[in-house]
Amino acid sequence: MVFADSSALRIPPLGRRLRLGFVGGGRGGLVGNWHFAGARLSNHWEVVAGALSSRPEVAAASARDWCIAPDRSYTHYREMAACEAARPDGIEAVSICTPNDSHAGIAACFLRAGIDVILDKPMTTTVADARMLVALRAETGVSLTMTYPFAQHAMVRQASALIEEGAIGQLRQVQMEYFQDWNQGGQPEESPIWRQDPARVGRSSIVGDIGTHALHLLQAMTGRDVVSLRADMFTCGAPKPQPDTAHVSLRLDNGAPGLLHLCNAAPGQFCALRVRVWGSGGALEWDQETPERLRYVPRDAEEHIFVRGGGQGIRPDAARISHLPRGHGEALSDAWANLYAEAGLAVAARRHGVALAPGTLRHLPGAIEGLRGMLFTDACADSYEAGGTWVTLASATAPVPPA
Ligand SMILES: NC(=O)c1ccc[n+]([C@@H]2O[C@H](COP(=O)([O-])OP(=O)(O)OC[C@H]3O[C@@H](n4cnc5c(N)ncnc54)[C@H](O)[C@@H]3O)[C@@H](O)[C@H]2O)c1
Repeated sequence: MVFADSSALRIPPLGRRLRLGFVGGGRGGLVGNWHFAGARLSNHWEVVAGALSSRPEVAAASARDWCIAPDRSYTHYREMAACEAARPDGIEAVSICTPNDSHAGIAACFLRAGIDVILDKPMTTTVADARMLVALRAETGVSLTMTYPFAQHAMVRQASALIEEGAIGQLRQVQMEYFQDWNQGGQPEESPIWRQDPARVGRSSIVGDIGTHALHLLQAMTGRDVVSLRADMFTCGAPKPQPDTAHVSLRLDNGAPGLLHLCNAAPGQFCALRVRVWGSGGALEWDQETPERLRYVPRDAEEHIFVRGGGQGIRPDAARISHLPRGHGEALSDAWANLYAEAGLAVAARRHGVALAPGTLRHLPGAIEGLRGMLFTDACADSYEAGGTWVTLASATAPVPPA
């Protein structure tokens, strides 16, 4: 048996863990616990401070849950940023897991305080705010990681390595779908109020919420960008303020077409994110609900199922973030841990000069990936509102022309 290398779980050579704070994530919140678990499992972080809820009593109770000292449990993120930046043992990064409309203000506050940021998606609710964060990150030199966890699965790295090697030849088509069932409607307790409020989620709830995940997965796996698209949107569940379904036609930067189907009102679908990539020399297929397997079908040979682990054709990039022997299941929690391990390396490199081998962080999503998600969401909304016309996406890296 060949064991995986698993070097991503090694603590950076500081002789201690990095100090992490949270905004949001307290009792009653959904995604905060995933961040917390990923940070702990990565072994790169100690959670020492937080403004864990917009409700002070919940913030204090949540801080006790996470063993945060009472004097580092804050009632407002601004107070937290100021106090922590002034402490010699202050936090070195903050994780922001609050509703979308608060991301820009909170992230900007910590960037300005010189504290590295780990921000949940979608980056903001507007392209203008996303561009503001990209500019502020560059100005301050502080790192900003976007938490797109699906691309941090070992078998997505395996797919990316295979595509880079030319295993599928020239990329000719991409088919993606992401279906969930939580937004069928008719039951007010199904989701927090903010998720149904257009002013708080952004121009398209369905694209911002799960379309941005799919876009990032597509880019991480293929190295390709979406240059234009057309979007239809529908409400297939009970009536609600924004469509719960989107059908998006894509054109990639090599001219290849793609299709992305999104729906969070799909009965029986839990987290059905699936990607199929077809090329001149073969095909790759990955399903988030069975993340340890990657189906590869060379054009003129029999299919091959890669299974996460060490050896048996698993490429070094994938083996590096594979922690248990093959057959002992790894899941989304490990993908979060991989994300937090690499975010830890980014912060250790920036703050403490820890040297990293070239390319170590090339899969870590940053501010540009956050902006890409916002440009994509905006383009989908533009297309839908114009009756389904083709829309060209603005580049996330090109300079912005003066208004
Ligand atoms: N990366 C992923 O896979 C993933 C998954 C789910 C949600 N998300 C994103 O995470 C974010 C949060 O989503 P959720 O479903 O956990 O929301 P939620 O409503 O369940 O939780 C939000 C939490 O933020 C707290 N909060 C709100 N404003 C605050 C403030 N100013 N200061 C401190 N705390 C504050 C609330 O009290 C609550 O605890 C959203 O942007 C969502 O899109 C990402």
